[in-house]
Amino acid sequence: MPRGPFVDYLPGIPIEAGIGDPPMSGLWSGLPDRRSLDDVNINGRTIFIPGATSGIGLALALALHDKGNTVIVGGRRTELLEQIAADHPDLGTFRIDTTDPDDITTTAKAVIAQWPDLDMLIPMAGIMRAEDWTRSGFAAGAQQVVETNLLGPIRLIDAFVDHLRSRSAATILTVSSGLAFAPLKVTPTYNATKAAIHLLSESIRLQLADTSIEVVELEPPSVATDLMPGQRESTFAMPLDEFIAEVIELLETQPDATEIQVERVKFLRYGEARGDYDQVVSVLNESDPH
Ligand SMILES: NC(=O)c1ccc[n+]([C@@H]2O[C@H](COP(=O)([O-])OP(=O)(O)OC[C@H]3O[C@@H](n4cnc5c(N)ncnc54)[C@H](OP(=O)(O)O)[C@@H]3O)[C@@H](O)[C@H]2O)c1
Repeated sequence: MPRGPFVDYLPGIPIEAGIGDPPMSGLWSGLPDRRSLDDVNINGRTIFIPGATSGIGLALALALHDKGNTVIVGGRRTELLEQIAADHPDLGTFRIDTTDPDDITTTAKAVIAQWPDLDMLIPMAGIMRAEDWTRSGFAAGAQQVVETNLLGPIRLIDAFVDHLRSRSAATILTVSSGLAFAPLKVTPTYNATKAAIHLLSESIRLQLADTSIEVVELEPPSVATDLMPGQRESTFAMPLDEFIAEVIELLETQPDATEIQVERVKFLRYGEARGDYDQVVSVLNESDPH
């Protein structure tokens, strides 16, 4: 019998066991039933979204607020925070730079002190940069992308996890991308950080399985925002209002989903599983305006 791919890594399992054999199946039975974990519900929550002064974060904040949640938005641009506070006095606003560890620590304490019911964190802040890896000079920009898109969420989760664990039901909604699953040629570091967020989400979901914290991953396709120059006008990008409406519908109708996938992201998300990954990468890069 051929050796299964994981056999060498599982002590005590006969070397000839295959993935569907009883000893392997026995391992799966010890894993938590995902449906039995706390479901995400989006009514009456208290939600902090660092990275919501514009784009997906702001639109999601407003939609979640409309659904009866208390929402606090964060970001660096104080003029936008002031405008949001003026337009939506019910929303909380906090200036935060998620690349600054001290700022994250200070802001987390202040947000928790002001909203002790906080039970949902959405580390939304992200940047996307075109890079040329064919010649030297890309490292400094790449570092900023890693600090914002990967270290930012890691530090935010670190700052909030103890508080979230103290709640009877809490949610961390990470934000990856369809580009976590198929590479856009011009943005190597961005793609890598989003792939990291995907596997980080998968990993910490396992660690937090016995706690009150549910980990859910939002996987947007290309959405018309100002994330990259020209993206708002791109015909390839999904209109922001349509994206948010579909996300809210998914959160409401699939409360036990671990990945929030609008229809348009499945082309990227499942290329490898479908077996058409090479075509997906080719179509993605041919249609990219950058
Ligand atoms: N649009 C898409 O096609 C798409 C697709 C997949 C995933 N995403 C992800 O969705 C998230 C939101 O992007 P978007 O499309 O809505 O772009 P956006 O309009 O540019 O929004 C990015 C948000 O992140 C905040 N931000 C960036 N750096 C920050 C920092 N150091 N500290 C605090 N906040 C920071 C920005 O606020 P300030 O500038 O005020 O700080 C802004 O509110 C990102 O994580 C992005 O990777 C977007």
